[in-house]
Amino acid sequence: VTACPLPRYTLLCPGPVNVGRRVAEVACQCALSHREESFCTLLRTVQQDLLHIAGIDPATPATALVLTGSGTAANEAVLASAVAPETTVVVLTNGAFGEQLAAIAATYNRTVVLDSGWGEKLDLTRLARLLAENPRVMVAMVHHETSTGLLNPVAEVANLCRRHRAQLFVDAVSSFAADPISLADGGITFLTTSSGMAIASFPGLSFVLGRTADFARLGDYPVRNHYLNLSRHFQAATEDGQTPDTPAVSLITTLKVSLAEIRREGFDRRYRRLCGLAMHMRQQLAARGLYQAAARAQSVVLTNARLPRGLLFPELQRQMKEQGFVIYDAKGPLRGKFFQVSTIGDITRTDIDRFFAALDRIAPPVFTEVQLL
Ligand SMILES: Cc1ncc(COP(=O)(O)O)c(C=O)c1O
Repeated sequence: VTACPLPRYTLLCPGPVNVGRRVAEVACQCALSHREESFCTLLRTVQQDLLHIAGIDPATPATALVLTGSGTAANEAVLASAVAPETTVVVLTNGAFGEQLAAIAATYNRTVVLDSGWGEKLDLTRLARLLAENPRVMVAMVHHETSTGLLNPVAEVANLCRRHRAQLFVDAVSSFAADPISLADGGITFLTTSSGMAIASFPGLSFVLGRTADFARLGDYPVRNHYLNLSRHFQAATEDGQTPDTPAVSLITTLKVSLAEIRREGFDRRYRRLCGLAMHMRQQLAARGLYQAAARAQSVVLTNARLPRGLLFPELQRQMKEQGFVIYDAKGPLRGKFFQVSTIGDITRTDIDRFFAALDRIAPPVFTEVQLL
């Protein structure tokens, strides 16, 4: 088998990301039917690895469902098939992906949106009041709000939910396997994530993790969707060790390699490495006057950088692409002033240094003293 060609571009976007050589090589070797025993073994392995990364020990009855579809598919699956009847979904929003959760929630459920404004702290006082007044609530929130780069306080929200016996659904689509988040203490009912971001595999798969008992009761809920119905997926996984429909087998094969690499590196070491890369990126940007640390907790996944003076994003994007780098536009109110650079996937410090060499050719820097990080 010949190795796949390595990517020509360095992807500095939060997804898709550059995959490692081992993952890319396996992509060329997929020949497996999803109705064979070896597929069941493969699926079991990736499910166990996902739960391991979520901090669940093997003795805890928990489940990871593997869906074919991007992160939005997993979010829609939860909001369409895992909300109990007569339950209000309370969505906490402070950016584009919280807003997307709210839109999906409102398609299927009675929904209340607690919007704090882009980049602002979530309003937990209002949430506590709402939880005290409403007995049947599922709170939905984003862990890493990818549009702003900020982390939301999942543990604090989980404590409130626990106190008021509310369920908690966390979209960790961009943060899982990078910023620490744990299902171990049972504060999160359902967590979603995807293959193509911090897990550093190819995009196209998404996952819903939770306690087995919480998945088992979904069969009692009225059926409101089919393909992404989690009760169907849970049944196929527990009864046959399979997926109900034809999954993206090749992506699951490559996912296994990515997850094995995460286990081999160890989560803590991996987190320290990703912190180091984000810090290097931010220090170099700050030295050029293109970054100032936010007052709130930031994800290690990406950095919102200021556009160099006099350069609009489309022009910067075009010139960076010519130099071999893919960058992202900022979203919402940040658009026009910022661009996004991510340091997950198969990225090294050398790649970041090459990025700055290219940036300095495009926009010669005015170096400033490194500001506080
Ligand atoms: C936090 C968050 N949620 C949901 C999504 C949607 O994921 P996808 O584009 O894979 O459907 C994204 C994508 O960037 C995200 O960052």
